[in-house]
Amino acid sequence: MLKIRLSTNLLPLCLLFSLTVFTSTRSEAQSIVIPVETQHNALVLQTDSSKYLGTVYFGKKLSKSSEYAQVKNQSKQTVDYTGMLNSVYTPSGSRNLLEPALTVTHSDGNNSADLTYVSHEVKKIDGNVSLISILLKDPAYNFNVTLFYKIYYKEDVIEQWSSIKHNEKGNVTLHKYASANLHLTGSAYYLNQYHGDWVKEMQPEESKLTHGIKTLDSKLGTRANLFQPSVFMVSVNKPATEDEGTVLFASLEYSGNFRTDLEVDYQDNLRIISGINNYASPYTLKPNEEFVTPIFLYTLSTQGKGVASRNLQNWARNYKLLDGKGTRLTLLNNWEATYFDFNESKLAGLLKDTKKLGVDLFLLDDGWFANKYPRNGDVAGLGDWEENKQKLPNGISSLVKEAQNNNVKFGIWIEPEMVNPKSMLYEKHPDWVIKQPKRDEHYFRNQLVLDLTNPKVQDFVFGVVDDLFTKNPALAYIKWDCNSVIFNAHSATLKNQNHFYIEYMRGLYNVLERIRAKYPKVPMMLCSGGGGRVDYAALQYFTEFWPSDNTDPLERIFMQWEYSYFYPAIASANHVTDWGKQPIKFRTDVAMMGKLGFDIVVNDLVANDLKFCQDAIKNYDTVKSIIWQGDQYRLSDPRSSNVASMLYINEQKSSGVIFNYLVSSRYGANSNLPVLLKGLDPAKNYKIQEINLYPGTTSTIKGDQIFSGDFLMKVGFNPDLNLARTSVVLKVEESN
Ligand code: GLA
Repeated sequence: MLKIRLSTNLLPLCLLFSLTVFTSTRSEAQSIVIPVETQHNALVLQTDSSKYLGTVYFGKKLSKSSEYAQVKNQSKQTVDYTGMLNSVYTPSGSRNLLEPALTVTHSDGNNSADLTYVSHEVKKIDGNVSLISILLKDPAYNFNVTLFYKIYYKEDVIEQWSSIKHNEKGNVTLHKYASANLHLTGSAYYLNQYHGDWVKEMQPEESKLTHGIKTLDSKLGTRANLFQPSVFMVSVNKPATEDEGTVLFASLEYSGNFRTDLEVDYQDNLRIISGINNYASPYTLKPNEEFVTPIFLYTLSTQGKGVASRNLQNWARNYKLLDGKGTRLTLLNNWEATYFDFNESKLAGLLKDTKKLGVDLFLLDDGWFANKYPRNGDVAGLGDWEENKQKLPNGISSLVKEAQNNNVKFGIWIEPEMVNPKSMLYEKHPDWVIKQPKRDEHYFRNQLVLDLTNPKVQDFVFGVVDDLFTKNPALAYIKWDCNSVIFNAHSATLKNQNHFYIEYMRGLYNVLERIRAKYPKVPMMLCSGGGGRVDYAALQYFTEFWPSDNTDPLERIFMQWEYSYFYPAIASANHVTDWGKQPIKFRTDVAMMGKLGFDIVVNDLVANDLKFCQDAIKNYDTVKSIIWQGDQYRLSDPRSSNVASMLYINEQKSSGVIFNYLVSSRYGANSNLPVLLKGLDPAKNYKIQEINLYPGTTSTIKGDQIFSGDFLMKVGFNPDLNLARTSVVLKVEESN
């Protein structure tokens, strides 16, 4: 099922809640308690005597839900002057003194908002998923906010968003319109955030939050994650480790400007307010128009980061990532093998190499299009999506046929949201480009962004994809790139420029929605000059993402490690390239930890390297279902030891694979201690064998020994890494 999250015309609530049950407990003089419960946790909301709804608890679930009403009384914190520090959705302009979730100017020019509880409903969607909606209303205005909590019980995951609506005499301006407003209690909070740049994505940084506000945000428009993705972790009381501590993982499901404020207040509580970045975006809301925010996603673990990550990975595969429970295609990409320099005969050779290597698909990258300004470099041609006659005189269709002759599939790169100023598209439609009429153009990778707020541009972008599929029904894969950020945010056609950033995202999701309506399952890679746009709003349209253009395997160990906290391995497209100094085995082993691909000149491989790759692909076929659908356990952290070790194990705990790397090249570096395994059944016996051996080498690991799960999780197993064995892949099999 495809979902639009940012829309002004969602189903009327009455339809949505045709099947409803009420779950509130009334106590303490009609106080209403709403427990938002998952398998292990409870987020408890409660009204006070003035009907203000606050968060009174977020932690391990209680056995007796009637006791939630007493949680509040156990707190002896300092006076709350506002009476709403723990508001479930803090309005501004009345009693509030801190960072708001909502700021408005009413149709009469009044700048205050207030929200009290009206009602709530619970709808059971299926055995695992339910949706709580809570209606809040401004007592002085015909203005209301509905908070939605979508509960994924088994996964301990909550998706939260808001819908804002009014029926005032004129328009209301929304200055701030958060998706969610959480409230956590603890003695200290440790934020683990991420920053990056091109080829440096997902760099973690942990710090103790001090009183005041820490803001994580993006104003980049598109490719919003280039400097900072919206994913983060907050540990409560003390920094959580892999297996211990209370930690919240969260992110905004949104591909545009986001803003998350983390505010430690004067009672020492932590308020987290997240949503679309209101930067340059006051929103004019018409009477009866519904403004639906994007989703804020979170999971709480009281057993460390490992559990939180597995919860999110399971949730993503079950509910969000496109075809999350499906399979994926291994591939050969030509980007680093040829860059822009190719022609039909060279590609014919690469198609043969695809077959020779043993992967499923050949992916033709950038450079195949544009004639007046041929795409022979990144300075021209973007936007002109017809085949370049010189390079491909017989068009894409002949390549698709040639692929079929070789018994492999064919995929293609596009970057349909963008344009080079040196293009026919720019010449023909200068008004389709995002730019300020009175200012110089600024380029990012020599290109500009198309104005997706304009429905004609949306049609054009949809048409780029649709044409390719219409002309080539056998086309099996799309790599969708997005290399530029937005400078000079301005649309030539949009009436209200304040809506620019929001309408841009609506336009993008509208296009993706149309594509998926017509082509529901064709695999598409979400690329953005690397991992510039990885988020769960986008991933409901994409089967995988490209984490980074940095494919140095040593760097990738660290990067993939961090991505894995939030995204399942099946979504991570990892390619073997010529980056880095490591041998082909090391590079291939690292790429196998997600969705395997290659971007090398197969013809240049020496015989043993080629043989190794061919064998590795066969090995991958035997373990890929465990990597894609199994549970992932981080065993040894490369940031705190010389060894990186990651285990994937199937649901039955009978079959697993462990990837081990030596990440230090210092004299004598080795795996001096055994690596403690996790996630096994202590009562089962296991055999551990090394796979992915380079031709002509033998393993130092005796593959015939049997160990109990108990032994492997208490004593551990040594992969025997040393400077001559820097990369070791182990297969774990239940054995009697
Ligand atoms: C971006 C992508 C690369 C490649 C080039 C092509 O940088 O991240 O993988 O597709 O564009 O121009």
